[in-house]
Amino acid sequence: MAAALNLGRMTLPSSKFLSRPSHLLSVKMQMQMQMQFSSPTLTKMSTDAQSVASKLDSSGLLRTQGLIGGKWSDAYDGKTIKVYNPATGESIVDVACMGGRETNDAISAAYDAYGSWSKITAAERSKFLRKWFDLLMVHKEELAQLITLEQGKPLKESIGEINYGAAFIEFSAEEAKRIYGDIIPSPLSDRRLFVLKQPVGVVGAITPWNFPLAMITRKVGPALACGCTVVIKPSELTPLTALAAAELSIQAGIPAGVVNVVMGDAPDIGNSLLASPQVRKITFTGSTAVGKKLMAGSADTVKKVSLELGGNAPCIVFDDADLDVAVKGTIAAKFRNSGQTCVCANRIIVQEGIYDKFANALCDAIQNMKVGDGFSEGVVQGPLINEAAVKKVESLIHDATSKGAKVILGGKRHSLGFTFYEPTVISDVDSEMRISREEAFGPVAPLLRFKTEEDAIRIANDTNAGLGSYVFTNSIQRSWRVAEALEYGLVGINEGVISTEVAPFGGVKESGLGREGSKYGLDEYLEMKYVCLRNMNKE
Ligand code: SIN
Repeated sequence: MAAALNLGRMTLPSSKFLSRPSHLLSVKMQMQMQMQFSSPTLTKMSTDAQSVASKLDSSGLLRTQGLIGGKWSDAYDGKTIKVYNPATGESIVDVACMGGRETNDAISAAYDAYGSWSKITAAERSKFLRKWFDLLMVHKEELAQLITLEQGKPLKESIGEINYGAAFIEFSAEEAKRIYGDIIPSPLSDRRLFVLKQPVGVVGAITPWNFPLAMITRKVGPALACGCTVVIKPSELTPLTALAAAELSIQAGIPAGVVNVVMGDAPDIGNSLLASPQVRKITFTGSTAVGKKLMAGSADTVKKVSLELGGNAPCIVFDDADLDVAVKGTIAAKFRNSGQTCVCANRIIVQEGIYDKFANALCDAIQNMKVGDGFSEGVVQGPLINEAAVKKVESLIHDATSKGAKVILGGKRHSLGFTFYEPTVISDVDSEMRISREEAFGPVAPLLRFKTEEDAIRIANDTNAGLGSYVFTNSIQRSWRVAEALEYGLVGINEGVISTEVAPFGGVKESGLGREGSKYGLDEYLEMKYVCLRNMNKE
């Protein structure tokens, strides 16, 4: 039996699985309250959001049912769950709230489709993926609007996410044709030794709300390129982008059953994916706590796992850094998606000689950042995903200030209300404060002070996380030394945003296993088969 997985009851060190408050109800409570049959009609919203949703509806991209074996399906018991706009607290639409039974059918559909999808040529799979990429680009604007609507990030960032997310499909279309095996020189003259690369099989892909498209395409692109089929479980907070992307996969001609989507009761869906011997791989982006459960739950059927989990990214600013570059890079690393990424700078570790100058310049730059609804002109900071996310930020700031840290900018809820929070800078933070040990997942920049390079490395590595890290310095020698000493999967030097489809993304220590993106990302969906061929030719 797979280990029981209950995402709903978890305490939340990382906020990727915070339940939607609505604004204070847990997903489970909402499900219990929504026993009515699903209706895809849009619920009452403010005019802007309503017109975006109506446009999406008429273009066929506003989907509310799950996708099983090429058919759109309601939850079998008719349950629905609401999807909310975090900028207004209003519900956008009700979507199917599925569970174990629908997941098992999706797994069967994926398993059936695997037989043929894994057998067609790499060139054919490549063409399907290319077509899917083209359609994602054709619908870039609508998809970006959908992301802003359900996730809250500013429209410009949402467009960035479509480009980023679609690029994983394009890259996978190209790499599909380059999945090479190997020939090993044989120690015996009558044997030939080969290594074949073959798809792992059906993949369960569990994805978070902070990148509703990119975290899906980063998994599904390489999986499909390798010949795997997938059951996607998007976050119940942001299923609409996933469903729209799935609709476009159908329009791209990707055969029924290759891409399936189920959403709703996360523990039930997760447990079904774990329990099924037909699911050969789990790929997950989300909190470390949930990742550990998935890893444990995969043991019973010995599934391959890839985990992209929580971070605690240090951003080290040395005295010899270019101040302007360091401030801009720190802001990019910290405030992307309002601080809600796994690679957001969580601790800004600044050398004592530049500390005051840097703190002032950072505050000057941040106070000009416009906070608001992601659809409004000039907005660069959207709302946090929900009330629980705001509470977590508040409690970390409270803990830090009660131990001597000082709020030098922001530090409270934004006057816009809902889940808007002021971009915040706190000085005099130390390594023992909770804000240095937990992922804030919000727009708070805590400043820590250090004296020497050794101090900086020690402070940076003093965590069980190891995903993103950043260094600002003008010294080439120091860049190499520090990059090598940092116990992290990703290091940005004089650069605050380093994610790209062409480079391997992933963490060390408790930040996860495996890599996504790049040629290495495909290996996660492949098994190696060694074939020894004995030459029977006697002549
Ligand atoms: C994440 O937050 O999990 C992913 C961020 C990225 O891809 O840059």
